[in-house]
Amino acid sequence: MAKKQKIHRAPTSPQGQIPKPWEHAKAGAGSASDPLAARFVASLAYDKRLYRHDIAGSLAHAAMLRQVGLLSSRELRDIERGLKEIEAEINRQGEAWEGWNIDLEDVHMCIEVALIRKIGDPGRKLHTGRSRNDQVALDLKLWLASATQQLLEAHQDLLRAFLDLAQRDGQVVMPGYTHLQRAQPIVAGGEILAWMAALDRAAGRLIGLAVVNRANPLGAGAVAGSSLPLNRQATAEALHVGPPSDSAIDATASRDAAVDFVYSLAMTAMTLSRWAEQWILYASSEFGFIILDGKYTTGSSMMPQKRNPDMLELIRGRCGGVYGHLVALLTMLKGLPLGYNRDLQEDKRHVFAAYDLVLDCLAMATRIVATTRFNAPRITADLERGFLDATSLAEYLVTKGVPFRTAHQIVGSLVRTCELRGLDSLAQLALEDCNAACALAKQPKVVGRDVLDWLGPQNVVERYRTHGNAGLAGVAELLQQWQARLAVPAGPAATRPGARSAAGPKPARPARR
Ligand code: ARG
Repeated sequence: MAKKQKIHRAPTSPQGQIPKPWEHAKAGAGSASDPLAARFVASLAYDKRLYRHDIAGSLAHAAMLRQVGLLSSRELRDIERGLKEIEAEINRQGEAWEGWNIDLEDVHMCIEVALIRKIGDPGRKLHTGRSRNDQVALDLKLWLASATQQLLEAHQDLLRAFLDLAQRDGQVVMPGYTHLQRAQPIVAGGEILAWMAALDRAAGRLIGLAVVNRANPLGAGAVAGSSLPLNRQATAEALHVGPPSDSAIDATASRDAAVDFVYSLAMTAMTLSRWAEQWILYASSEFGFIILDGKYTTGSSMMPQKRNPDMLELIRGRCGGVYGHLVALLTMLKGLPLGYNRDLQEDKRHVFAAYDLVLDCLAMATRIVATTRFNAPRITADLERGFLDATSLAEYLVTKGVPFRTAHQIVGSLVRTCELRGLDSLAQLALEDCNAACALAKQPKVVGRDVLDWLGPQNVVERYRTHGNAGLAGVAELLQQWQARLAVPAGPAATRPGARSAAGPKPARPARR
């Protein structure tokens, strides 16, 4: 969530305000004359973190203005020098940079005004053919590209931690559940691979979005484009974004890229939340399937024995916040008429907040996975309960020519026999019991001694043979593939040739200020 921002006011005019560069066009003194209005309209508290992208966009815009003859080379040089100095100042001073001034509303105006102060008249030409409407749409796109890179790396770190866990404890035989009832035996690696598959899809979604939402909004202007000979292709190439957007109105009025991004964050958050819930259950005394590292549990202020899985609970709890940001964004957009509306300024609150939440949860999850052990003795001690091998027995009968429906019925009756006799497992029945049940279903003498190879959880996890199975063979095959995949770095750059463009100009961590 957005931290409380310390707002620095730049030196002001004798009236106590910095005049906004466009206020001369208005009859009154503008919003800065009412401090509440000035604060209300400002996005500076949260859009500061766009500064690198804003400057990158301005540098590309200025170079293009020079190329089409709207700036002299001298003016371009001054603008470039000024913008680079400003970037270096903000890098160094962060919150304390003297250019931050809430009366200027946002990061775009703070930087433009600082530039004009620094270099004078050439700075007044930077905004030629540009509006904050296309400027902010571009900045957000550039930010999304570098945020995507960070997220992909965080997903990859978590995948690596899961892979290591699968290599440590993946062969532990445990119950697989449906309806939270014991179903069939699996190995722990099977569950780990399930989480990996979901996380991998989430990362893939992000990569896909980086491709879909690449169009360059710069040059769309305020709503209708410009009568000046701007070269939108040139800025697109300089910024490594896609081709110029096809509709100036849509480019400035839409926020699909933000919604898509937060939706995919919501999917990651949902996956993490489900995993957290699963492990909260597994860490309970009732299951006892995993042992969490003490670093990631907390005690109770009253009950001395408690080790609560708070980190996992918070991962589950924070998912709700991410959903909230998604719904807030969608709701914000649903009633907006065409063209830029100031409502759109709110998008960044939700995008940044959702991103911060998910990035934190991914990092926390990575640490938890890296330090958790499956409790093999505890799982094994209780593994005979639940007739986990019943389906395997039915499949054995199928290999002897019994129709599956009939086999299902036979094994169902054998499970009832066990329950009536107080037996824990099907392997405790005599062959004659099995054949008697088969005979009742008109399938005489089908069960031989070889049935013992199909009973018991260990045998069952060794028998699965379909691709993607949650037994030993399936897990071994997939782990090998994962090992090869995770040996290369994350992201569009790693998976798509020439994809540097999707990652934006600066793959470095976006400033979190
Ligand atoms: N800070 C604003 C935003 O994030 C910039 C756009 C302001 N545009 C305008 N026409 N008032 O959307």
